[in-house]
Amino acid sequence: MRIVCIGGGPAGLYFALLMKKQHPTHHVSVVERNRPFDTFGWGVVFSDATMQSMRQWDPETAATIEDAFNHWDDIELVFKGRKIRTSGHGFVGIGRKKMLNILQDRCLELGVELLFERDVISDDEFPDADLIISSDGVNSRMRSKYADIFRPDMQMRPNRYIWLGTDKRFDAFTFDFRRTEHGWFQAHIYRFDDSTSTFIVETTDEVFRAHGIDAMDQDQSIAFCEKLFAETLDGHRLMSNARHMRGSAWLNFGRLICQRWSHFNGNSHVVLMGDSAHTAHFAIGSGTKLAIDDAIELTRQFDIAGHDKPDIPAVLAAYEEVRRVDVARIQNAARNAMEWFEVVGERYADTLEPEQFMYSMLTRSQRISHENLRLRDKTWLEGYERWFAERAGVSPAPNGAAPPPMFTPFKVRDLKLANRIVVSPMAMYSATDGLPDDFHLVHIGARAMGGAALIFPEMTCVSPDARITPGCLGLWNDEQANAFKRMVDFVHRETSAKIGMQLGHAGRKGATKVPWEGDDEPLDDGAWPLISASALPYLPHWQTPRTMTRDDMDRVVADFVRATERARHIGFDMLELHAAHGYLLSSFLSPLTNRRDDEYGGSHENRARFPLEVFRAMRAVWPAGKPMSVRLSTHDWRDGGNTPEDAAIFSAMFKEAGADLIDCSSGQVVDDDQPVYGRMYQTPFSDKIRNEIDVSTIAVGAISEADHANSIIAAGRADLCAIARPHLADPSFVLHEAAKIGYDQQPWPKQYLSARQQYINNLTRAASAPVVAKP
Ligand SMILES: Cc1cc2nc3c(=O)[nH]c(=O)nc-3n(C[C@H](O)[C@H](O)[C@H](O)COP(=O)(O)OP(=O)(O)OC[C@H]3O[C@@H](n4cnc5c(N)ncnc54)[C@H](O)[C@@H]3O)c2cc1C
Ligand SMILES: Cc1cc2nc3c(=O)[nH]c(=O)nc-3n(C[C@H](O)[C@H](O)[C@H](O)COP(=O)(O)O)c2cc1C
Repeated sequence: MRIVCIGGGPAGLYFALLMKKQHPTHHVSVVERNRPFDTFGWGVVFSDATMQSMRQWDPETAATIEDAFNHWDDIELVFKGRKIRTSGHGFVGIGRKKMLNILQDRCLELGVELLFERDVISDDEFPDADLIISSDGVNSRMRSKYADIFRPDMQMRPNRYIWLGTDKRFDAFTFDFRRTEHGWFQAHIYRFDDSTSTFIVETTDEVFRAHGIDAMDQDQSIAFCEKLFAETLDGHRLMSNARHMRGSAWLNFGRLICQRWSHFNGNSHVVLMGDSAHTAHFAIGSGTKLAIDDAIELTRQFDIAGHDKPDIPAVLAAYEEVRRVDVARIQNAARNAMEWFEVVGERYADTLEPEQFMYSMLTRSQRISHENLRLRDKTWLEGYERWFAERAGVSPAPNGAAPPPMFTPFKVRDLKLANRIVVSPMAMYSATDGLPDDFHLVHIGARAMGGAALIFPEMTCVSPDARITPGCLGLWNDEQANAFKRMVDFVHRETSAKIGMQLGHAGRKGATKVPWEGDDEPLDDGAWPLISASALPYLPHWQTPRTMTRDDMDRVVADFVRATERARHIGFDMLELHAAHGYLLSSFLSPLTNRRDDEYGGSHENRARFPLEVFRAMRAVWPAGKPMSVRLSTHDWRDGGNTPEDAAIFSAMFKEAGADLIDCSSGQVVDDDQPVYGRMYQTPFSDKIRNEIDVSTIAVGAISEADHANSIIAAGRADLCAIARPHLADPSFVLHEAAKIGYDQQPWPKQYLSARQQYINNLTRAASAPVVAKP
């Protein structure tokens, strides 16, 4: 086979040497426009996992790279006059030039042809090639030429950065944050050889322009950075090796995803590799790793299918299928980390104290969790847990141990919660005429004994026509109130949990069957007329709701107020207004479901007018000492719908109207939404609202273990975590999670105490049990 790699970066060189090594009869060349020692950039970082696969595939290269590596364990934060350091992070760094030279030498040793100083204009220049690797980096010409086939999606990110070097040796991966009169700058700094460190400076476009950096040349902008980071540089200079670039050399990162990675041009198969196929932001330092992993996977697929020409199409298809999954995973984590650095100035830097700022930064990708940090640096994490607990008003225990963040108390108005876990409201569709019965008493009672600090029964409807299904709970008559009182009294008498009430109105999503009689199906008989912001059915075969008139609004406000008064008399500890998931109030907030042209439609202010009117009327009759929350769909997950930006605007309005907490759910507003699920997938919305609007929040959605909740609470991404489905599977979820992480201060119901030690023993036994080989 004749193989040509266009571009001699890590992807092209490593693939070339692996293929030549596996199959010496292949003719492999790498064509690079630069000279062998010209290269843009300073150092790159690697993970242990990448080194492990490099060792497996070419021990010679791996050994030379490892010899040249600089290894360091610490991360240091320089922020607001403080330096905070944690250990155990395990990075290796190498100069980009050094690494490319090692790869070039190895290529020559194995017989790869290296052609430098040749700028390839088109793949047509290699008509004899069977396989052309487009390893020509992020601005790939080959990708542009076949853009209609590869369908690249390049998203230019707003921040500006410049990749510099310095001759100061840093002994930790250092993040340095500096405030100027216009805003924040951050430097990402790491050493990569005995005398040089990479020094990337980043800021927002607004701050960049406010300082006039766009009008500076490279020397001026370097002088600017030297002055800004003078304290950290300690007399050392900053250097650029991007002299070939015009202007100030500041860049915007482009996030790239391609729909297809390979194409047959009539003579040769052209395949994308490395940065020409995908990019991952430098905030998690994975671009080189991805390039190397691509090279390994394509070689592996040739080894599996065969190194003959007819095998190429199948090999390329398999390569793309395997790599897509890993690339998507890394790009996801990189996106969270990148966004953290994009919003750090406006969202965290001015408000968070250095300790919590450090925690938030370390967990920015949501991939490193609380227990993961404990494994890396136990002493630092325990110190942080103590710091956090003291701020939550807990004095450390006599042995000095502090409770994990999720087990710290939380106070809002006069309500004191023992920990940060909430049983999220979940409709059970098991009531008759809205009346709670023995099922609801047992269901809620069991969960109230399970350790969560706050329990919500399901969305409770304010009138018969406010129900989703005939099985929904209601609070429009005294009989229902008496039954709820029995439940609330039980929770208060028998447990230390608090109990909240979520009031709602189904709007256009009403009059449907209970799920086990037909999911998303309207009632055959007995349907009641529906109302909504606009006359749009939820699904084409559903009843079309009537557009609400002012009279309808008056009636609905009065229904909410009456239900609130009943909730107050019953003795609920907290009240939540359900304004999410496409139900009545949510249908006003979302532009997808609100098409009104009166003062209740159009702008944010107009769309929020009726939901706020309901909220204010409830707040007026709800006791001042008791808190109220509002549940919002903080993302509609559909073009033209509300985004987290819109949700932040609504949150500020509800806060101003007296809401103490925003419960940050998402979606379910329209049937064809496209949510992107994943663990803690709605938590970034809570983080945004809490830290930009300065209001307490509840995070919810795929928070399924103590480790998730601890990292959310510790990082300040929410004040409370609502946990739904895990509580259906296990009413004692919190008791069990406490045992799993070894927290021994979680009280158990006195009647169940004898089970506690046995549960802990069983966990210990299971953890130490030998793995039994399968027959
Ligand atoms: C500021 C910054 C910091 C980074 N930090 C890290 C880090 O810490 N860790 C990490 O893993 N990654 C990091 N990266 C990313 C990393 O540099 C890239 O992801 C990686 O180099 C991709 O390898 P590649 O071989 O695909 O492309 P490149 O390294 O870009 O190589 C492409 C090569 O193709 C050549 N070329 C382009 N067009 C042509 C042409 N028409 N003809 C001939 N030759 C051509 C170029 O000259 C270049 O040598 C960073 C990137 C930036 C911008
Ligand atoms: C069976 C069921 C019923 C639900 N009913 C309600 C409800 O009445 N009110 C509400 O706001 N959310 C309701 N939800 C959404 C949950 O409160 C929660 O937001 C969602 O399940 C995500 O959390 P989880 O990943 O912990 O399950 C319900 C969820 C489930 C699974």
